[in-house]
Amino acid sequence: MATQSSTESESENQMIIGVPKEVKDHESRVGITPAGAKALTDAGHKVLVEKDAGLLSSFPDEDYQAVGAEIVGAAANVWGNADMVVKVKEPVEQEYWHFREGLVLFTYLHLAPLKALTDKLLEKKVTGIAYETVKDRLGTLPLLTPMSEVAGRLSVQVGAAYLEKEHGGRGVLLGGVPGVPPGNVCIIGGGIVGTNAAKMALGLGAKVTLVDLSLNRLRELDDIFSGRLHTLYSNAYNIERATAEADLVIGGVLIPGAAAPKIVTRGMVSKMKRGAVIVDVAIDQGGCIETAKPTTHSNPSYEVDGVVHYCVTNMPAAVPNTSTLALTNATFPYVMKLANLGAQAALQADAGFAEGLNTFNGKLTYKAVADNQAREFTPLSELL
Ligand SMILES: NC(=O)c1ccc[n+]([C@@H]2O[C@H](COP(=O)([O-])OP(=O)(O)OC[C@H]3O[C@@H](n4cnc5c(N)ncnc54)[C@H](O)[C@@H]3O)[C@@H](O)[C@H]2O)c1
Repeated sequence: MATQSSTESESENQMIIGVPKEVKDHESRVGITPAGAKALTDAGHKVLVEKDAGLLSSFPDEDYQAVGAEIVGAAANVWGNADMVVKVKEPVEQEYWHFREGLVLFTYLHLAPLKALTDKLLEKKVTGIAYETVKDRLGTLPLLTPMSEVAGRLSVQVGAAYLEKEHGGRGVLLGGVPGVPPGNVCIIGGGIVGTNAAKMALGLGAKVTLVDLSLNRLRELDDIFSGRLHTLYSNAYNIERATAEADLVIGGVLIPGAAAPKIVTRGMVSKMKRGAVIVDVAIDQGGCIETAKPTTHSNPSYEVDGVVHYCVTNMPAAVPNTSTLALTNATFPYVMKLANLGAQAALQADAGFAEGLNTFNGKLTYKAVADNQAREFTPLSELL
């Protein structure tokens, strides 16, 4: 097994790494920042960046050129010349024709519902490594965490804006002012999203109640926030009362591998204050609020029973500079290992990283995707 120092300081491999511009609707992040490009070129690798790939994240072409990356005019030239392509979102149909045998693709893939993409990756024998299935030593998902941190913090910022009268809210300032009580924020789910939302809401001076099913998690949060956070056990009775009092409700529930349970019912929403705001961050898993339905950045909100709903499925895209930096802080050490060692050795050296492998040499290597698509699954141990 390779040691940390050997993966990070010695380049046993020289690789051409391609960074295409994202083409998925409203995606404004980029797979590698100028800082990452610098580290790769310093290590002797070549980095090809598609023209304007970083622009929407506030990384202009000149910043990449200044650290030795090459700016390439057409996406086809990035994909066609790179040994490894590092992206953010799963490839969309117009990118499938770039796939070829031996290409390493490191990005979010979310293959379970995407049969056509899975077919193409298998047919072209692409080594597809998915951010969302990589595990760390604790068994958590290190490449999902940063986006939950961003969405959790953003949920309070967005909720505070929608509480303003101009945006349909009841005109409440979350922090209150001397002589006027602060707004009430109710956060459902005390994981990464919920904890980051709590930090922001408390920072604004709001009165914050956080609901979770895990008593141990509530104990931890009570300690972390030194009693400033009101913790509440999750049951229908408590949630009905907490949401009825709230100016802002934030949904951050997750049951791994399952659709989010609808724990705030339509009846509860009808008892909320007129002009209150719901931000259902868990909408990407179906939402934990019964009246929530997915929305986009171009049309982010709607009203039900006088309650404003904001249910954008890709909230981090609203703050691409922060999101790109947060994502690449987590992905870059893996990019460096892939470049220095080559994909096979890098995956062999780290069992958690190997869980990121979804397609390899025409075989489907991630069980949940194989089950979901009723396809043959090949364990990694047979291939690596
Ligand atoms: N909309 C977006 O842009 C966006 C971005 C990032 C993450 N998310 C989503 O946000 C959701 C939360 O992510 P996370 O990283 O915080 O997950 P997490 O696993 O860290 O936290 C989930 C929490 O929900 C709690 N929970 C489970 N069942 C519950 C119940 N019945 N009542 C109360 N609490 C319950 C768990 O105990 C846990 O503390 C996920 O669906 C994630 O995909 C969405």
